[in-house]
Amino acid sequence: MNNTKHSVAIIGCGRMGQNYAEAYTTYPDTEIAAIVDANAERREVLGTRFNVTALYPDVESLLRDSVPDIAVVVTPTKYMKDAVIACAEAGVKGISTEKPIAARLEDADAMVDACAERGIVFAGGNLQRAMNEVQEAASRLHNGEFGDIKGASVHGFGGEISGGGCQHISILRLLANAEVEEIVAWGTPPEALSAETDEGLIINGCFRLTNGLECSVFGTQTPCRGVDVWTDEYLVRWDWNPPEIFKGYDQNGNRIRLEPNYNSYPWNEFSYLTGSIRSFLAAVDGNGHPWITGADLRQALEVAIAAKLSATRNSVPVKLPLEDRSLALYPRPYRWLGGDATGKPQSIKEAKS
Ligand SMILES: NC(=O)c1ccc[n+]([C@@H]2O[C@H](COP(=O)([O-])OP(=O)(O)OC[C@H]3O[C@@H](n4cnc5c(N)ncnc54)[C@H](O)[C@@H]3O)[C@@H](O)[C@H]2O)c1
Repeated sequence: MNNTKHSVAIIGCGRMGQNYAEAYTTYPDTEIAAIVDANAERREVLGTRFNVTALYPDVESLLRDSVPDIAVVVTPTKYMKDAVIACAEAGVKGISTEKPIAARLEDADAMVDACAERGIVFAGGNLQRAMNEVQEAASRLHNGEFGDIKGASVHGFGGEISGGGCQHISILRLLANAEVEEIVAWGTPPEALSAETDEGLIINGCFRLTNGLECSVFGTQTPCRGVDVWTDEYLVRWDWNPPEIFKGYDQNGNRIRLEPNYNSYPWNEFSYLTGSIRSFLAAVDGNGHPWITGADLRQALEVAIAAKLSATRNSVPVKLPLEDRSLALYPRPYRWLGGDATGKPQSIKEAKS
């Protein structure tokens, strides 16, 4: 671990931003140098809670004063692009963002490119792909411990295929060690299919992966709600918890669950946010890459957009990468605009605790 402390600015410090602030306050190699939040009352309360005096209403005023090492962007999705690009242009070392990264593909591209061109580490957010057990199960799969991958399936890809579905896509790509290259999909209900947002849309279909696998996609629980990847003998199942590992079958034909014996991981009080942040900080220090990146979030958005496109066009096969980068899929209003603008503000009492 680095001996010098990284200075961190939390940009957007609502419900999720405060989880980040708690974590960055706890780690020995980080200190919160500034908090940026559009809500004046909440900003003041958070300054006291996290012992931070550098408080700003917007990114521009932060960057006029000082450039942090690390910019942690947890604003509602609509405001992420401007914050990420301003921080990249100002010369921070690392930027993290949240899910969904954008509505429009070209906005996600602009963020990924702005960081890549400058060699800035660009991390994703609090996603289960960054759970240490998910990473460990993926390494064991890729190291051949379970044999060759023979199949994959996605379960429960519905409700919010961009806002929440990015969890499935990010884990599928990791476990299968492949990209989604073609999608055939159908969707329900019709009113969700014709809407601009991903709210309530249930997608069924098939993803073709770059390693040749045909991955079935189930829009509802099967009852599993995650991602299965299997070999001849083993099944690795992510169902919103540390992945389960099964080997062989009992006399009734049911799979036999093994004890996965995952390695322990520090700071588990922050759950999988720890894997996300610690792998991000390691990458900023020159070691490895974030376990969830901004580019992963861009891929997840692209898959969601392509799935909806196929479904609205009578299940035509849609190839990725999409040529039309102006395509968009909006998340539900809370994610896009935040609680203050959508009638669900976090109370000052809650922000204090
Ligand atoms: N990964 C996860 O598990 C997870 C969970 C919850 C939310 N999120 C994502 O995190 C983001 C924020 O969600 P939340 O629940 O914290 O919302 P929130 O409404 O509680 O907080 C958003 C905060 O950002 C501030 N803000 C709004 N516009 C801003 C701007 N332009 N500059 C600076 N500050 C600004 C608001 O004042 C508010 O304090 C959303 O994109 C959401 O989808 C991810």
